[in-house]
Formats: sequence, structure tokens, C-alpha cells
Amino acid sequence: MLYITFGVILLVAVEGVFVANENYVGCFVHRINDQWALKFFSQNFTKMAPYLCLPNCQVMDQKFFGITKNQCFCGNELHSIEVPRYRCNQRCSGKQETRCGGLNVMSVYKVTGVTIPLVPAPSKGCFFWSPTERVLHKEVKKNFQVMNQKECASSCFKIYRKLFGLANGNRCYCGNQILNGNPMAKRFCNQQCQNAEYGQTCGGPLAIEIFDLVPTES
Ligand SMILES: *[C@@H]1O[C@H](CO)[C@@H](O)[C@H](O)[C@H]1NC(C)=O
Repeated sequence: MLYITFGVILLVAVEGVFVANENYVGCFVHRINDQWALKFFSQNFTKMAPYLCLPNCQVMDQKFFGITKNQCFCGNELHSIEVPRYRCNQRCSGKQETRCGGLNVMSVYKVTGVTIPLVPAPSKGCFFWSPTERVLHKEVKKNFQVMNQKECASSCFKIYRKLFGLANGNRCYCGNQILNGNPMAKRFCNQQCQNAEYGQTCGGPLAIEIFDLVPTES
């Protein structure tokens, strides 16, 4: 009994290492001549993991995504040949238990589901803000019916930003880094969000609250 239990645990552990997830298609030669296994190069990531590449290919409405080291590709067809799975032995820098290709090979996954930003999002804090002070790179200028974390995060997610920020109850910003961040006490960021459920806060008249965009499956 002890051996059986141990065996099962061992098997699960080994499987967990090598079967990245149920949407794993296989390991493919990354390119043949000039043709990449998947047609569209999407983006290089410094930290790579399937959950980072996936949303890009969901947005592009492609069937597959593929990772070779730091590079993310998308496509509807596979233009190369499959090789044994062990050849894809590169651990993903952003998630060690998954595989991100290897030497001249690409790990290919099926695109499934819809990835949305996590809300409530993890806060990076409250910072001084004014309409002329840029704390995050870009303001989302659209006619929001409701302002809250969900609305703002979705807008920033669509343009692949890492951060979003809410200010003045009704303003939404996106960016990849905090520019000129002068921290303020959390109590300056407790203005009710415009047209939102009571208790949802969107910064303050002179403050912006900034959040991490964390992709999650819907
Ligand atoms: C992405 O990274 C690869 C190396 O892994 C490099 O050859 C390529 O030029 C990079 N592409 C861009 C657009 O940065």
C-alpha cells in the first residue's frame, strides 16, 4: 500500500513536470528555412509563461500559441514537424513547471477560453495625481458609462499594459511603469467610482490608485 501510494505520488509529480497543461499540443521544430512553425510573431517577454503568451493569441483569434524561449507566436496552422516532447526541455522563466520550447524547438498549445484581468486587482498604492501630472503613460479617453476597476482594467488589458490606474472617481490610465510616483496615504484614494456599485473606489481628486494587471481565466 505504501509503495502504491508512493508510486502514484511519484507519477503525479513526474507528469506535473512534463505535461505542461491539458492544452499542450506538442513540441515542434521552431522553423524550417524561413517559415516559423506558427505564422505570427506576437511579442518577446522577459519573463515567459504560457499564461502570458495566451492572451495575445486569444485577441488575434488564432487556434494555437507557441513559445520558444522568450518569444511568443500565434497561428491557425502548424507549418513544421512535430518532434518528441522531451526536446522541449526549456523551463519557462516565468513559470518553472511549464515548458517554453528548447533548442530550435517550440512548445505549442491550443488557444482556449478567454483571459480577463483579475479584479479586485492587487494595489500598488495611492499616488499624487493631477490632470496635468502624468503618473501612468496613457489616459483612456472613451465614454465610460461606469467607471471601476473592471472597466479600466479591461481597457488597459486590450493594449497589453501591465498597470492601470484610477483617479478622480472617473479617470482611467494605463501604463507599464509608474512615472513620477509620489506616494500618498491610502485615505486619499477613497473617492466613489462614478456610476459604480457603492464602495468601489477610484482614486481621489488629487490622487491615483495604481493596480497590477493580472491575467486570469474567465
Ligand atoms: C525577440 O528575441 C529574439 C531572441 O530570443 C531576437 O532574436 C528577436 O530579435 C527579438 N525580437 C524583438 C522584436 O525584439
